[in-house]
Amino acid sequence: MKHFLSINDVTDLNQLITSGIASKRNPFADIELGKNKTIGLLFFNSSLRTRISTQKAAQNLGLNVITMNVGQDGWGLEMEEGVIMNGDKAEHVKEAAAVIGSYCDIIGIRSFAGLQDRDKDYAEIVFQQFKKYAEVPIINLESATRHPLQSLADCITIEEFKIKQRPKVVLTWLPHFKALPQAVANSFCEWMNPMDVELVITHPEGYNLAPEFVGKGQVIYDQDKALEGADFVYGKNWSSYEHYGQVLTSDPSWMITEAKMSLTDNGKFMHCLPLRRNMKVADEVLDGPRSLVIEQAANREWSAQAALREVLLHI
Ligand code: CP
Repeated sequence: MKHFLSINDVTDLNQLITSGIASKRNPFADIELGKNKTIGLLFFNSSLRTRISTQKAAQNLGLNVITMNVGQDGWGLEMEEGVIMNGDKAEHVKEAAAVIGSYCDIIGIRSFAGLQDRDKDYAEIVFQQFKKYAEVPIINLESATRHPLQSLADCITIEEFKIKQRPKVVLTWLPHFKALPQAVANSFCEWMNPMDVELVITHPEGYNLAPEFVGKGQVIYDQDKALEGADFVYGKNWSSYEHYGQVLTSDPSWMITEAKMSLTDNGKFMHCLPLRRNMKVADEVLDGPRSLVIEQAANREWSAQAALREVLLHI
């Protein structure tokens, strides 16, 4: 049994990227692989791209798909062991995961960080509990600390659009008034580390990501300096890891504009979406030829298909 929770579950990244690109060219080549099998997609949080792209990828592989908004439609799930369940949670994950695992051959889960308790979020308790009790492969549809299907789509997009053997990829923090998780930024760094790229990370002081995700990434606090000569600019907001879950600044000078992009080497702009226009990124960038956000989102189907194919091959 093979889970897909992080890059640690990938044995050959190049092969996975190639598989995604091959699926894009021939989406139904493996339609027999998932025949008479079912995937359950459980959403504890909202989604547009992840929900639709994963469902489409699963159908391309012949899988039956069941999608559930657990956060809205299901019983409240208790994740802690040994507690007296006299609160608002009506069902324990021990039963819920085992029951869903009896209906489904694969389970995909989205469960974001609460941003209140760093240790709890970084322990990924929802995923650990489903892994323990469901007895089927678990797919990460975005967890508290990672978003691997997004990161694989980002790798595919960079591979498709790079015009240099070793492009400069800059992950830049963007301003936002709300506290958002570190998952996309963490995961992007984690997946860029084994890629043949020069990885630069720029953010205001106090927004350092956890060191285990940064890896070979060079941190530069001056955004203009970091953007110099970039081939790809990857924008994302995240709240502080050090001062966990806090918004320390929403300085508008960190918004990506054409003036910022002119510092790059004719760089392309990427963002996982959704995003708030003219707060994080200016219309002129998103509506111009530098933006890859739609191509990147479209590649979510092929990243999901590559990951599901790999899991199905090991069931
Ligand atoms: N990028 C991404 O995961 O989009 P959704 O939140 O809409 O799924």
